[in-house]
Amino acid sequence: MGIEVAVEGLTKSFGAQTIWRDVSLTLPAGEVTVLLGPSGTGKTVFLKSLIGLIKPEEGTVRVDGVDMVNDPDRRVFRERKRFGLMFQDGAMFGSLNLYDNIAFPLREHTRKTEAEIRRIVLEKMDTVGLAGEEKKVPGQISGGMRKRAGLARALVMDPEVILCDEPDSGLDPVRTAHLSQLLIDVNARIDATMLIVTHNIEIASTVPDNIGMLYRRDLVAFGPRETVIASDDPVIAQFLRGSPEGPIGMSEEKDAALLAEEAARAANRPRPPSRPIEIPAQLRPSPGEPERSGELRHAARVDAMLPNLPPEAVSAILRGRAATAEAAAAAAAARSAPAAAAPPRAAHSTAPAPPPLPPEFKSPGENP
Ligand SMILES: Nc1ncnc2c1ncn2[C@@H]1O[C@H](COP(=O)(O)OP(=O)(O)OP(=O)(O)O)[C@@H](O)[C@H]1O
Ligand SMILES: [Mg+2]
Repeated sequence: MGIEVAVEGLTKSFGAQTIWRDVSLTLPAGEVTVLLGPSGTGKTVFLKSLIGLIKPEEGTVRVDGVDMVNDPDRRVFRERKRFGLMFQDGAMFGSLNLYDNIAFPLREHTRKTEAEIRRIVLEKMDTVGLAGEEKKVPGQISGGMRKRAGLARALVMDPEVILCDEPDSGLDPVRTAHLSQLLIDVNARIDATMLIVTHNIEIASTVPDNIGMLYRRDLVAFGPRETVIASDDPVIAQFLRGSPEGPIGMSEEKDAALLAEEAARAANRPRPPSRPIEIPAQLRPSPGEPERSGELRHAARVDAMLPNLPPEAVSAILRGRAATAEAAAAAAAARSAPAAAAPPRAAHSTAPAPPPLPPEFKSPGENP
């Protein structure tokens, strides 16, 4: 079971440059969270701060009673072993083969025998689809394989928290889709708390339970995936649509003159009809994998928020939930196949029940 990571009032500067200030958020145990933000907003610095590799000037990061910012190095070092980190650049040793790269943390931080290490390394390589590639060195494999090797190495210490820094960068859309599925499957299997930094909107909108966003030195959004996607905040909306129009510019933030010019141009254009917010279905574990235990806890938290959300957001969340339930039904149907011959209604009845809705939010025509 994963552990909760509670960040409170975190502020980090390098000299006169404030990277971000007063960041507070909680990574709920066993849930998957995505952290978004324009390039240079300090996402990598944030990940490194969580494990005490970078020390913020203010604030705390509490993991099971240990403060990763302020506690003595000895305690922080011990606690760090509960984290698995997948680095932005892969961070593989070029002269070591994949087996030795993946075995590295075990040889460095444990007293396990080579036989035990072998069992763990081969199991993790199998998990990420790299069985049989042990002897290759990083220079001989594709970018996608290097990413998966990085994930295997992040997994060898049986981490309770997994931090992935842009696991998708440099991957084609198909490999990115495979990687997203792999991350969800790993979460289903080991129930680790996960934080994924990415620029990929597809990953952000379909993989996590929660989304956070850093912008202009602040955490401008943090909450359940559904509520962040439904948010009408212009920064979040622009980022999730990948649009050049909005407050975010090439150099992270646009100046006031450019924004005013854009606003004037927009005012002269006929307004497009406003479209309903769409929340895509969340990715499900592959057939044969266990259900994700973080999912029901997450649904209960979202239910508690519904009364305080605008009606469009509520109906978007309910539609999104119906879409996720439908995907679950399809997956269950596929699992219980040879049902090629079975009628679709019967296949649906074998689906796991979707998270229950509070009665006040069931509306006519809404499929709970
Ligand atoms: N050790 C350091 N010393 C000084 N400045 C640093 C250090 N590490 C990072 N920075 C600065 O902190 C800022 C945030 O860097 P960071 O790498 O966290 O950005 P990022 O959000 O991960 O960007 P990207 O999306 O491009 O990976 C940058 O301006 C960077 O130059
Ligand atoms: Mg980075």
